[in-house]
Amino acid sequence: MTDTQKGPLLDPFDCSLRGRRLLITAGPTYEAIDPVRYIANRSSGKQGYAIAEAAERAGAEVVLISGPVSLERPEGVEITYVESAQDMLNAVRKALPADCAIFAAAVADWRVAEISEHKLKKRAGSGAPVLDLIENPDVCAQVGLLSGNRPQLVVGFAAETENLIENARSKLQRKGCDWIIANDVSRAGNAMGGDYNTVHIVTQDSVESWSRMHKAALSSALISRIALALRD
Ligand code: CTP
Repeated sequence: MTDTQKGPLLDPFDCSLRGRRLLITAGPTYEAIDPVRYIANRSSGKQGYAIAEAAERAGAEVVLISGPVSLERPEGVEITYVESAQDMLNAVRKALPADCAIFAAAVADWRVAEISEHKLKKRAGSGAPVLDLIENPDVCAQVGLLSGNRPQLVVGFAAETENLIENARSKLQRKGCDWIIANDVSRAGNAMGGDYNTVHIVTQDSVESWSRMHKAALSSALISRIALALRD
Protein backbone atom coordinates (compact mmCIF):
# COMPACT_ATOMS: atom_id res chain seq x y z
CA MET A 1 0.00 0.00 0.00
CA THR A 2 1.31 3.45 -0.82
CA ASP A 3 0.36 6.49 1.19
CA THR A 4 1.51 9.67 -0.47
CA GLN A 5 1.27 13.33 0.43
CA LYS A 6 1.62 15.03 -2.90
CA GLY A 7 -0.29 17.28 -5.23
CA PRO A 8 -2.17 15.96 -8.23
CA LEU A 9 -0.35 15.09 -11.44
CA LEU A 10 -1.09 17.62 -14.16
CA ASP A 11 0.01 17.10 -17.73
CA PRO A 12 -2.08 18.98 -20.30
CA PHE A 13 -1.03 16.58 -23.06
CA ASP A 14 -2.63 13.63 -21.27
CA CYS A 15 -5.85 15.42 -20.32
CA SER A 16 -8.06 14.99 -23.36
CA LEU A 17 -11.37 13.24 -22.91
CA ARG A 18 -12.39 13.62 -26.53
CA GLY A 19 -14.65 10.76 -27.58
CA ARG A 20 -15.39 9.80 -23.95
CA ARG A 21 -18.80 9.97 -22.28
CA LEU A 22 -18.90 10.95 -18.60
CA LEU A 23 -21.90 10.65 -16.33
CA ILE A 24 -21.89 12.82 -13.21
CA THR A 25 -24.39 13.11 -10.35
CA ALA A 26 -24.49 16.31 -8.30
CA GLY A 27 -26.38 18.14 -5.59
CA PRO A 28 -28.78 16.87 -2.94
CA THR A 29 -31.93 14.84 -3.39
CA TYR A 30 -35.23 15.93 -1.87
CA GLU A 31 -37.48 13.25 -0.43
CA ALA A 32 -41.01 14.57 -0.03
CA ILE A 33 -42.80 14.13 3.30
CA ASP A 34 -45.91 16.07 2.30
CA PRO A 35 -46.60 18.84 -0.25
CA VAL A 36 -44.50 21.36 1.69
CA ARG A 37 -41.79 19.37 3.51
CA TYR A 38 -38.90 17.19 2.52
CA ILE A 39 -35.82 15.33 3.80
CA ALA A 40 -32.52 16.37 2.23
CA ASN A 41 -28.75 16.36 2.66
CA ARG A 42 -26.59 19.46 2.84
CA SER A 43 -25.12 19.92 -0.63
CA SER A 44 -24.61 22.93 -2.88
CA GLY A 45 -23.80 20.86 -5.96
CA LYS A 46 -20.66 22.99 -6.52
CA GLN A 47 -18.21 20.09 -6.66
CA GLY A 48 -20.26 18.00 -9.11
CA TYR A 49 -20.93 21.00 -11.35
CA ALA A 50 -17.23 21.97 -11.33
CA ILE A 51 -16.31 18.41 -12.37
CA ALA A 52 -18.88 18.54 -15.19
CA GLU A 53 -17.40 21.83 -16.42
CA ALA A 54 -13.82 20.50 -16.26
CA ALA A 55 -14.84 17.35 -18.15
CA GLU A 56 -16.56 19.44 -20.83
CA ARG A 57 -13.43 21.60 -21.19
CA ALA A 58 -11.40 18.41 -21.64
CA GLY A 59 -13.59 17.51 -24.61
CA ALA A 60 -15.85 14.87 -23.04
CA GLU A 61 -19.52 14.36 -23.78
CA VAL A 62 -20.95 15.12 -20.34
CA VAL A 63 -24.28 14.05 -18.86
CA LEU A 64 -25.03 15.72 -15.55
CA ILE A 65 -27.82 14.36 -13.36
CA SER A 66 -28.56 17.12 -10.90
CA GLY A 67 -30.61 17.35 -7.74
CA PRO A 68 -32.19 20.71 -6.80
CA VAL A 69 -29.43 23.36 -6.65
CA SER A 70 -29.21 27.09 -7.27
CA LEU A 71 -26.32 26.96 -9.73
CA GLU A 72 -26.23 28.04 -13.35
CA ARG A 73 -26.62 25.40 -15.98
CA PRO A 74 -23.08 24.59 -17.23
CA GLU A 75 -22.57 25.26 -20.93
CA GLY A 76 -22.08 22.37 -23.30
CA VAL A 77 -23.33 19.82 -20.78
CA GLU A 78 -26.45 17.66 -21.16
CA ILE A 79 -28.37 18.06 -17.92
CA THR A 80 -31.29 16.21 -16.35
CA TYR A 81 -32.82 17.73 -13.22
CA VAL A 82 -34.23 15.31 -10.67
CA GLU A 83 -35.68 15.57 -7.21
CA SER A 84 -35.63 12.25 -5.36
CA ALA A 85 -33.08 9.42 -5.12
CA GLN A 86 -35.39 7.16 -7.12
CA ASP A 87 -35.62 9.83 -9.88
CA MET A 88 -31.82 10.11 -9.83
CA LEU A 89 -31.44 6.34 -10.21
CA ASN A 90 -33.88 6.28 -13.15
CA ALA A 91 -32.06 9.15 -14.88
CA VAL A 92 -28.66 7.51 -14.33
CA ARG A 93 -29.90 4.21 -15.80
CA LYS A 94 -31.22 6.07 -18.84
CA ALA A 95 -27.89 7.90 -19.30
CA LEU A 96 -25.80 4.71 -19.46
CA PRO A 97 -23.61 3.54 -21.10
CA ALA A 98 -20.72 5.81 -20.14
CA ASP A 99 -16.95 5.45 -20.02
CA CYS A 100 -16.77 6.93 -16.54
CA ALA A 101 -19.36 7.64 -13.84
CA ILE A 102 -18.69 10.07 -11.00
CA PHE A 103 -21.10 10.14 -8.08
CA ALA A 104 -20.75 13.54 -6.43
CA ALA A 105 -24.39 13.82 -5.31
CA ALA A 106 -25.32 13.84 -1.63
CA VAL A 107 -28.22 11.42 -1.92
CA ALA A 108 -30.65 11.26 0.99
CA ASP A 109 -30.36 7.81 2.54
CA TRP A 110 -34.00 7.57 3.57
CA ARG A 111 -37.44 8.56 2.36
CA VAL A 112 -40.84 8.30 4.04
CA ALA A 113 -42.67 5.06 3.34
CA GLU A 114 -45.75 6.98 2.25
CA ILE A 115 -45.81 10.61 1.12
CA SER A 116 -48.77 12.42 2.66
CA GLU A 117 -51.12 13.83 0.04
CA HIS A 118 -52.05 16.70 2.37
CA LYS A 119 -49.93 18.91 4.56
CA LEU A 120 -49.36 17.27 7.95
CA LYS A 121 -51.07 19.45 10.55
CA LYS A 122 -50.07 20.13 14.12
CA ARG A 123 -52.78 18.81 16.40
CA ALA A 124 -53.01 20.05 19.98
CA GLY A 125 -52.16 17.30 22.45
CA SER A 126 -51.23 14.58 19.95
CA GLY A 127 -47.49 15.40 19.78
CA ALA A 128 -45.13 15.34 16.78
CA PRO A 129 -45.84 12.94 13.90
CA VAL A 130 -43.71 9.79 13.69
CA LEU A 131 -42.17 9.33 10.23
CA ASP A 132 -41.90 5.80 8.93
CA LEU A 133 -38.61 5.85 6.97
CA ILE A 134 -37.37 3.36 4.37
CA GLU A 135 -33.97 3.17 2.71
CA ASN A 136 -33.38 4.74 -0.68
CA PRO A 137 -31.64 2.88 -3.50
CA ASP A 138 -27.88 3.39 -3.62
CA VAL A 139 -27.35 4.95 -7.06
CA CYS A 140 -23.56 4.59 -6.99
CA ALA A 141 -23.64 0.93 -5.87
CA GLN A 142 -26.24 0.04 -8.49
CA VAL A 143 -23.80 1.21 -11.18
CA GLY A 144 -20.55 0.05 -9.54
CA LEU A 145 -21.89 -3.47 -9.11
CA LEU A 146 -23.34 -3.81 -12.62
CA SER A 147 -22.14 -6.92 -14.44
CA GLY A 148 -22.89 -5.63 -17.94
CA ASN A 149 -22.83 -1.98 -19.03
CA ARG A 150 -20.55 -1.00 -16.13
CA PRO A 151 -18.49 2.11 -16.89
CA GLN A 152 -14.76 1.45 -17.19
CA LEU A 153 -14.13 3.78 -14.24
CA VAL A 154 -16.58 4.25 -11.35
CA VAL A 155 -15.74 7.06 -8.91
CA GLY A 156 -17.66 7.61 -5.69
CA PHE A 157 -17.31 10.26 -3.02
CA ALA A 158 -17.28 9.69 0.73
CA ALA A 159 -18.33 12.43 3.10
CA GLU A 160 -17.05 11.42 6.53
CA THR A 161 -16.77 12.94 9.97
CA GLU A 162 -14.57 10.17 11.47
CA ASN A 163 -12.31 7.24 10.39
CA LEU A 164 -12.02 8.82 6.95
CA ILE A 165 -9.80 6.34 5.09
CA GLU A 166 -11.24 3.24 6.76
CA ASN A 167 -14.82 4.27 5.91
CA ALA A 168 -13.83 5.26 2.37
CA ARG A 169 -12.24 1.83 1.78
CA SER A 170 -15.31 0.09 3.03
CA LYS A 171 -17.48 2.19 0.64
CA LEU A 172 -15.10 1.36 -2.21
CA GLN A 173 -15.79 -2.36 -1.65
CA ARG A 174 -19.48 -2.08 -0.84
CA LYS A 175 -20.33 0.07 -3.86
CA GLY A 176 -17.98 -1.58 -6.36
CA CYS A 177 -16.07 1.66 -7.00
CA ASP A 178 -12.60 1.94 -8.55
CA TRP A 179 -11.85 5.16 -6.65
CA ILE A 180 -13.38 6.94 -3.71
CA ILE A 181 -12.78 10.66 -3.25
CA ALA A 182 -12.86 10.95 0.53
CA ASN A 183 -13.34 14.21 2.36
CA ASP A 184 -13.59 15.03 6.01
CA VAL A 185 -16.71 17.18 6.25
CA SER A 186 -16.15 17.85 9.95
CA ARG A 187 -13.09 20.02 9.11
CA ALA A 188 -13.92 23.73 9.15
CA GLY A 189 -14.18 25.12 5.63
CA ASN A 190 -14.07 21.71 3.93
CA ALA A 191 -16.64 20.67 1.31
CA MET A 192 -20.40 20.94 2.07
CA GLY A 193 -21.38 24.33 0.65
CA GLY A 194 -17.89 25.88 0.61
CA ASP A 195 -15.62 26.64 -2.36
CA TYR A 196 -12.63 24.60 -1.16
CA ASN A 197 -12.10 20.93 -0.54
CA THR A 198 -9.34 18.71 0.87
CA VAL A 199 -9.59 15.19 -0.49
CA HIS A 200 -7.90 11.82 -0.47
CA ILE A 201 -8.06 9.57 -3.53
CA VAL A 202 -8.60 6.10 -2.15
CA THR A 203 -8.20 3.02 -4.34
CA GLN A 204 -7.98 -0.68 -3.54
CA ASP A 205 -4.27 -0.41 -2.70
CA SER A 206 -3.38 3.27 -2.37
CA VAL A 207 -4.28 6.53 -0.68
CA GLU A 208 -3.19 9.81 -2.21
CA SER A 209 -3.76 12.94 -0.16
CA TRP A 210 -4.19 16.17 -2.11
CA SER A 211 -3.63 19.58 -0.60
CA ARG A 212 -6.59 21.93 0.01
CA MET A 213 -7.80 23.26 -3.32
CA HIS A 214 -10.52 25.37 -4.83
CA LYS A 215 -13.25 23.05 -6.14
CA ALA A 216 -12.59 24.21 -9.72
CA ALA A 217 -8.84 23.38 -9.50
CA LEU A 218 -9.59 20.09 -7.80
CA SER A 219 -12.02 19.20 -10.59
CA SER A 220 -9.44 19.93 -13.31
CA ALA A 221 -6.88 17.79 -11.50
CA LEU A 222 -9.37 14.98 -11.08
CA ILE A 223 -10.37 15.13 -14.74
CA SER A 224 -6.68 14.91 -15.79
CA ARG A 225 -6.30 11.88 -13.58
CA ILE A 226 -9.43 10.30 -15.08
CA ALA A 227 -8.21 10.97 -18.63
CA LEU A 228 -4.98 9.15 -17.80
CA ALA A 229 -6.81 6.21 -16.23
CA LEU A 230 -9.14 5.83 -19.21
CA ARG A 231 -6.15 5.65 -21.56
CA ASP A 232 -4.73 2.59 -19.77
N1 CTP B 1 -24.61 7.48 -2.92
C1 CTP B 1 -25.56 7.16 -3.89
N2 CTP B 1 -26.82 6.80 -3.50
C2 CTP B 1 -27.14 6.76 -2.18
C3 CTP B 1 -26.17 7.08 -1.20
C4 CTP B 1 -24.92 7.45 -1.60
O1 CTP B 1 -25.26 7.23 -5.09
N3 CTP B 1 -28.37 6.39 -1.82
C5 CTP B 1 -23.24 7.79 -3.37
C6 CTP B 1 -22.78 9.23 -3.15
O2 CTP B 1 -23.07 10.01 -4.31
C7 CTP B 1 -21.28 9.04 -2.95
C8 CTP B 1 -21.18 7.69 -2.26
O3 CTP B 1 -22.37 6.99 -2.59
O4 CTP B 1 -20.59 8.92 -4.17
C9 CTP B 1 -21.02 7.75 -0.76
O5 CTP B 1 -22.01 8.59 -0.22
P1 CTP B 1 -22.01 8.91 1.36
O6 CTP B 1 -23.15 9.84 1.65
O7 CTP B 1 -20.63 9.32 1.79
O8 CTP B 1 -22.23 7.49 1.99
P2 CTP B 1 -23.49 6.58 2.24
O9 CTP B 1 -23.48 5.47 1.25
O10 CTP B 1 -24.72 7.41 2.29
O11 CTP B 1 -23.15 5.94 3.64
P3 CTP B 1 -23.16 6.62 5.12
O12 CTP B 1 -24.33 7.59 5.12
O13 CTP B 1 -23.36 5.46 6.01
O14 CTP B 1 -21.83 7.30 5.30
